Amino acid sequence: MNELPQVTVATLKKKKKRGEKIVTLTAYDYFTSRMMNEAGIDLILVGDSLGMVVLGYENTVPVTMADMLHHTRAVVRGNSRSLVVADMPFLSYQVNDDEALRNAGHFIQEAGAQAIKLEGGKEMAPLVKKMVRAGIPVMGHIGLLPQDILKDGAYILQGKDNGSAARLMEDAQALEAAGAFAVVLECVAAQVAGEITSAISIPTIGIGSGPLCDGQILVTHDLLGILDDFKPKFVKQYAQVNKIMLQAFKEYKKDVEDKTFPGPEHSF
Ligand code: KIV
Repeated sequence: MNELPQVTVATLKKKKKRGEKIVTLTAYDYFTSRMMNEAGIDLILVGDSLGMVVLGYENTVPVTMADMLHHTRAVVRGNSRSLVVADMPFLSYQVNDDEALRNAGHFIQEAGAQAIKLEGGKEMAPLVKKMVRAGIPVMGHIGLLPQDILKDGAYILQGKDNGSAARLMEDAQALEAAGAFAVVLECVAAQVAGEITSAISIPTIGIGSGPLCDGQILVTHDLLGILDDFKPKFVKQYAQVNKIMLQAFKEYKKDVEDKTFPGPEHSF
């Protein structure tokens, strides 16, 4: 039985106040969600990184609402403690605010997520305000924005010069003022991430943004070493699951071909 209390947006704010780090990971399925629940992960993001690490796309652009709802439901079924945040996919919130509100509502009402995340800073503040007013907790996401890949052409470090650092600060403050409960800082220069973290009262969750953020997030497949052809500098690999899986599949293949599986102990 899991004795730990349910994490809420209020828990995260308290953690920031107390200087306790917020532990966050991505998950896309029931089993991984159960494991994270047991491990005491504070926040599970059903990220649209789903597109690359589960669905085999090149980037997050092809991921749909249907994909995200399907995987969010699975994660929610495996979880009883962590705060589950669903990532709004490309074009599910950019067309107009009414459609954005309805789509966010699908994640909360139908899939059982406790909050949503969307990419963008100042320009998203009016929409964030509307969602929060409607009762939907919102996590912002600034810095590197993976959904802008077709426009930007590459994934690059943000906040390297004074101008872009100042814009990031304005974005973070606008999201805070709009009522976001936290903000992801992706690939933001570490010092700038630290300055933003000190300047706002809501938690910052960093990925590739150094140690001064209030919490950290990694894509779980990177942390586990599931896809070994992608290892950015900011990832620490805690396991090499890829090697374990490959070995298991090879041994199984050999046993079936050699007729040593199933043995008498596996038969009725
Ligand atoms: O989709 C995702 O996994 C994300 C995290 C990298 C923050 O947005």
